[in-house]
Amino acid sequence: PARAVAAMARQAPETLAALNQLIAASAPLVPGAIRAVLGEGPEGAPIAFVGEQPGDQEDLQGRCFVGPAGQMLDQALADSGIARGSAYLTNAVKHFKFEQRGKRRIHQSPTAGEVKHYRWWLMKELSFVQPKIVVALGATAALALAGSPVAVTRQRGARRLGEWDAVVTTHPSYLLRLPDETARRQAYEAFVADLRLALSLAA
Ligand code: URA
Repeated sequence: PARAVAAMARQAPETLAALNQLIAASAPLVPGAIRAVLGEGPEGAPIAFVGEQPGDQEDLQGRCFVGPAGQMLDQALADSGIARGSAYLTNAVKHFKFEQRGKRRIHQSPTAGEVKHYRWWLMKELSFVQPKIVVALGATAALALAGSPVAVTRQRGARRLGEWDAVVTTHPSYLLRLPDETARRQAYEAFVADLRLALSLAA
C-alpha cells in the first residue's frame, strides 16, 4: 500500500512545485539535452504564455524564453504593456529536441505523439496557475492546449482551446525567420496586437 500511495502521489501532484519535481526528473526526448526547462512566473498570473519547447539557450541556461525567440517575445511584451514578471511562461514540451550537427545543436520539431506525452503535465501545470487567458505561441502550443491540430493562420485570435480561454498567435521564432523586412515588421505588429488582445481579455 505504501508503494501504491507513493505511485498515486507521483501521478497526481498536489502543488506546482511537486509537479515540477516530476517533470524535472523525467527523461529527455533526445540524449544530450541537459535538463527539463520548467515554467516560470506567479501562480494566479492572469496571462499564461505557452511556447513549443526550450531551445539551445534555454537548455543551457535552464530558463524558458531566454534565447533569440525569448528576446523577441520580451520586446513584444514590452510593446504591448505586459510585464514579463506578471505573466506565466511555459512550453508545451519541456525538453530541447535537437539534432547534433558538428558543434551546433539544431532544433527539431516535436511530433504530435511527443506533444501528447507532455500534455497531461501542461494541463496540470495550468490548472495550478489558473490563468484567465492562455496565449498559444504557434501550432505546437495550440495543438497541446486543444488536444487536436489547430491551423494558426486561420484560427488566429481569441478562441477556446480545450478547457482554456485562449489567444492563438504565431510563435516569436516565426518572426525571426521572415526574410523580408516589411513582412517582418507587419508580422511583428500583428503579434503585438494579439498580445494586447490577450491583455484586454485577461483584465
Ligand atoms: N521557443 C519556445 O517555444 N520556448 C522557449 O522557451 C524558447 C524558444
